[in-house]
Amino acid sequence: MLINHAFFRDYWQKKPLLLRNAVDLPEQNPDREALFSLAGDENIESRLVVEHGERPWEVHFGPFTRSRLDTLPDSGWTILFQDMDKHLPDVASLLQQFRGMPRWRIDDIMISYAVDKGSVGPHTDEYDVFLIQASGRRLWRINADPGSDRRLVPDLDMKILRHFDAEQEWLLEPGDVLYLPPGVAHWGIAEGECITWSVGFRAPSAQELFPEWAEEQQQTIEEHRYRDPELQLQIHDGEIQPQAVLKLQEMLTSALEQDPDDFGDWFGRHITQPKEHLHPLPNPELSTPQMLLEVLQQQPLVRHPASKILYMHTAGKLLLFCGGVSCQLPESCLPLAILLSEQDAWHQEELESWLHDERTAAMLIDLCQRGYIGFE
Ligand code: SIN
Ligand code: CO
Repeated sequence: MLINHAFFRDYWQKKPLLLRNAVDLPEQNPDREALFSLAGDENIESRLVVEHGERPWEVHFGPFTRSRLDTLPDSGWTILFQDMDKHLPDVASLLQQFRGMPRWRIDDIMISYAVDKGSVGPHTDEYDVFLIQASGRRLWRINADPGSDRRLVPDLDMKILRHFDAEQEWLLEPGDVLYLPPGVAHWGIAEGECITWSVGFRAPSAQELFPEWAEEQQQTIEEHRYRDPELQLQIHDGEIQPQAVLKLQEMLTSALEQDPDDFGDWFGRHITQPKEHLHPLPNPELSTPQMLLEVLQQQPLVRHPASKILYMHTAGKLLLFCGGVSCQLPESCLPLAILLSEQDAWHQEELESWLHDERTAAMLIDLCQRGYIGFE
């Protein structure tokens, strides 16, 4: 396990941590060849960063043809692949090492391949990240001083720090891990060709949450309209009077108030919504509990790699979330919510009794039909 009580107490969101030889990567981890062929896949989000291209720190977006990659120089570039845990089940199995981290906080595993001296330049990230050296060696240089100069080089494709003085540096070898909290300036430069996995975490900002939440809230708020029975004849009728401004502001801030359970319902739906290009394919054929039970006799039901199943349990209320939809269940279904949210596969004996209950059977069939769980 990469995380434990002491990690959260001493390091999480506080300070960097270097762990030598801390992780065994899954056996089937993609090498250069595998990554180059994934680069040609239009369903995979890939980026190529060239340090000395026509412009400094040039970014190109995939897919990339093999001949394009083969004609790149011998040094100074890197290619990054987002959401590899959603595409390669073996990569996803690394997330077992993060048991105990709230699942909604986990974003993705990004994999980067770099040639000698390849990097994405000195920068800071807004997210916590575990940088795991998968093959080859990379020199990580960091500066955790929040007072250091964070100005960026203007007019680049990427956010590159104008000045970067390393306070500490480490050469990472396969199996070594570097945890960085948000805001720590870092620069990882490949020494020879290397592959790095980054486990990134989600930390939504108010700016990101607000528009989507407000759009839904707008549909549910009671119609409050401005009223002013106290209005009097106004001598300077061009003035917007302070008491009118206060009233308008109060009207809007009271519209923002929401019951915490309702907000939780919105957030659970928001956070389980997969990225557009990762949506599973619907499977309308699986339409009855009998059909499900029949197939379950042969094989387990599995979670689609892009699906997040989460739940929320507050006084008297149990909500299960998946794929941007919530389902309210009786509290007696808490064991099912735990089972679905903590495992990636389920066997007949685990689901049988729930498939004999009309309500939970309907919920499981809905998950199957939307493609969030299914058979391989
Ligand atoms: C990389 O893998 O090259 C970059 C990861 C990072 O700096 O966050
Ligand atoms: Co970074």
